[in-house]
Amino acid sequence: MSGSEIGLIGLGTMGAALALNIAEKGFRIAVWNRTAEKTRAFVAEAGPLAAQITATETLEDLVAALARPRAIILMVPAGQAVDDQIAALAPLLDEGDLIVDAGNANFRDTDRRVAEAPVRVMGIGVSGGEDGARHGPSIMAGGSEADWARMEPVLTAIAARHEGVPCAGHVGPAGAGHFVKAVHNGIEYADMQLIAEVYGLMRDGLGMHASAIGSVFDTWNAGVLRSYLVEISGKVADTTDAATGGPLLDVIVDAAGQKGTGRWTAIEAQHLGTPVPVIEAAVAARNMSAQRDRRARLAERFGGTAGTLPDLPREVLEQALICGKVLCYVQGFDMIRAASDAFGWGIDPSAVARLWRAGCIIRSDMLDDMAAALERHESLLGDAGFADRLTASVPALRQVIAGAVTAGLPVPALSAALGYFDTMRQARGTANMIQGQRDFFGLHGFARLDTGASGQHGPWA
Ligand code: 6PG
Repeated sequence: MSGSEIGLIGLGTMGAALALNIAEKGFRIAVWNRTAEKTRAFVAEAGPLAAQITATETLEDLVAALARPRAIILMVPAGQAVDDQIAALAPLLDEGDLIVDAGNANFRDTDRRVAEAPVRVMGIGVSGGEDGARHGPSIMAGGSEADWARMEPVLTAIAARHEGVPCAGHVGPAGAGHFVKAVHNGIEYADMQLIAEVYGLMRDGLGMHASAIGSVFDTWNAGVLRSYLVEISGKVADTTDAATGGPLLDVIVDAAGQKGTGRWTAIEAQHLGTPVPVIEAAVAARNMSAQRDRRARLAERFGGTAGTLPDLPREVLEQALICGKVLCYVQGFDMIRAASDAFGWGIDPSAVARLWRAGCIIRSDMLDDMAAALERHESLLGDAGFADRLTASVPALRQVIAGAVTAGLPVPALSAALGYFDTMRQARGTANMIQGQRDFFGLHGFARLDTGASGQHGPWA
């Protein structure tokens, strides 16, 4: 059979879910996996959707099964595996055929592949985990207009919908889609860390049981914080461990894994010179969490951090979380704008916010307001609604951090959010001291406030 409209390589969890989603939307899809047993098992479990699926056992068969011009989605691990797969496919493809990398690639790799691969390559960011891939992910596509036009029917058909609008869109050329996906993941790390810190304050500062914490998250999920991550945090906190009968959360090891996308965001933010301290704090917090043995030794050396907080109203904690979240998104969207300017990508941040309203891990009601605000303003900080929200919630963030710091409870991401806010609203900063120091030890020169003259030196010169 040579009529499949789309091909897919890599039947791992995400690839298999995406293939079933594509088949379900009525497209004929040909699939291939490195191990043929997996392909056979996949088709055997596809039920009625198997009629839409052509299982192939060699790359040649996969290519032969596809209608021209061919389009093949790659769902293989990011990095060398993508290069290897492109190299293996290239000799089998014709001009006009397209390889679509749907994994979590580093956008710099995507830029390189688009420029150098012997075939056309397109990079798309796909978010939503297995469930999203199966029933409707958020899709951030990079690439040329022509490649987007080629893939749009499939990608919009399989994407999540927000009030009927597909959460799949073309954000910019080449690596732009994977860049936006990386920022999504940076925000994902930050959102998760902010929630985890507030969980920690309830657990260690207020002595609350996991299920009571779960109820608080459930309540918050009915308000301004309504979001997938707050929803699942409530569910995670409220789950009982079958083995112990206690909260499952209490038996989960407190060391976070990471595949690197959040770290890439922090690294790229440094390259761009755009501040994302909440994301950086979240990445650092994961790194600190992973040093579990060392933390245990240091807890013995210096004493643990469990302290008590004077009774902290849940509403104050909620407002602190709202404030931290808004500031984190301010930084994320500002970073997207900075990258778009630096690379000439022409990304519309409000369109990105619209893509994130459903399907992805950071989906939330607040993103709808952010999309509207970013249509009118360059930054969320310029929007009266978000400015009011910050003005109203910053005192709570300050109160929570002050309490946590006094009690010795760690809140690095919440603190990073407040540090950013206080720094950015300080018209007269303290970098005059930095400039004085730089001039003192290296004659780097400074500008004068009174005359405006630059390249000035102190008497130490
Ligand atoms: C998504 C997620 C996903 C990511 C996992 C794990 O948008 O669906 O971001 O792409 O791979 O969340 O990421 P870490 O292992 O880095 O936490």
